Amino acid sequence: MSAPLVSVEDLHVSFLTEQGSVRAVDGVSFDLEPGKSIGIVGESGSGKSVTAKTLMNLLPSYAQVEGSMKFDGRDLREIAGKKEKHFWGVEMTMIFQDPMTSLNPVKRVGEQIAESLRVHMNRSRNEAMAEAGDLLEQVGIPEPAKRLRQYPHELSGGLRQRVVIAIALACGPRLLIADEPTTALDVTVQKHILDLLDDLRKERGMSMILITHDLGVVKGRTDEIMVMYGGRTMEEAPTPTLFECDGLHPYTEALNATIPRIDTPSHTRLVPIPGKPPEVIGKIIGCPFVQRCRYSTSECLTEMPPLVEQGEGHFCACHNPVGTPEGINAREANQNAGYTPAGLDMKEFEIPAVRRDTGEL
Ligand SMILES: Nc1ncnc2c1ncn2[C@@H]1O[C@H](COP(=O)(O)OP(=O)(O)OP(=O)(O)O)[C@@H](O)[C@H]1O
Ligand SMILES: [Mg+2]
Repeated sequence: MSAPLVSVEDLHVSFLTEQGSVRAVDGVSFDLEPGKSIGIVGESGSGKSVTAKTLMNLLPSYAQVEGSMKFDGRDLREIAGKKEKHFWGVEMTMIFQDPMTSLNPVKRVGEQIAESLRVHMNRSRNEAMAEAGDLLEQVGIPEPAKRLRQYPHELSGGLRQRVVIAIALACGPRLLIADEPTTALDVTVQKHILDLLDDLRKERGMSMILITHDLGVVKGRTDEIMVMYGGRTMEEAPTPTLFECDGLHPYTEALNATIPRIDTPSHTRLVPIPGKPPEVIGKIIGCPFVQRCRYSTSECLTEMPPLVEQGEGHFCACHNPVGTPEGINAREANQNAGYTPAGLDMKEFEIPAVRRDTGEL
């Protein structure tokens, strides 16, 4: 194992709002080796983008951040404090869901790519324009010379996202964070863009964090997967390991059944997860998924299970993981009691499952 390029330890991010303190990220840790990729997966509001924006130093000033974030052994908060102008944009870059918001509508494509090279890499105008053409070729844009002179609105959504990728790659970053990079695109284009990102990452030996709500997007594309919910890591595993068991955590299992994927045959019936994700205001003491979980027991209400290694490199934060005796027992007890989780108010409801320790209902 080589030294990690990115090392995040016990990251907490909260936002002070009028309603109280919103805990967007609550104790997340992960390492990413050079040249490797990690997929961060979870429903809306689970804390994926906030994790990414924290690394990118893009949080608003009212955000409170605790924990450690290192890049190649250097403390990211120290780098931010020193105002190292070229760090973000050169060493680490990010692409977002909607290419139109990242592109300037009134500037030609070529100028936008060249600008990054001129600002960060001191290239002359002509050098930067020539490199911009090469970059367009690398991201699979035909007739690059013509495209350099066009404006974003003259390109299709897929081509625009390729331009955004070209800009992100212009200065040869060691880490690329892609936050839902294909959600706004149609299915065939999505696949092309995801495959392109994967190929470019391998060619360049770059590391990548790929953020998505769709487990199908990361399947076969990343080395590692981290499943987030309510700001916490629910499960983390090497990608093949996670898909061998379809998830040890009930939330991962539910995500697997729920989410339409690029590779899902049409007319497949998808099973929604009942209820909706929590907006975590203040501190929750139990598991944030408890209200929606078919495996929940009363201890899940009062005790957040720690992230425990269940198999080699396979971590899961659950009292009753899927397929274990505890999981089978809890699910059966809930089923027999006629309990169906539906996002009930946590204060008002009791979970009828058998307690693992006492065996009582
Ligand atoms: N600037 C902010 N101020 C207050 N709360 C915020 C802010 N940004 C994010 N949040 C809250 O933090 C939580 C996590 O948000 P985040 O954007 O990371 O979710 P996400 O997993 O990226 O979801 P999505 O799939 O919708 O993009 C949410 O509850 C969100 O409302
Ligand atoms: Mg997001």
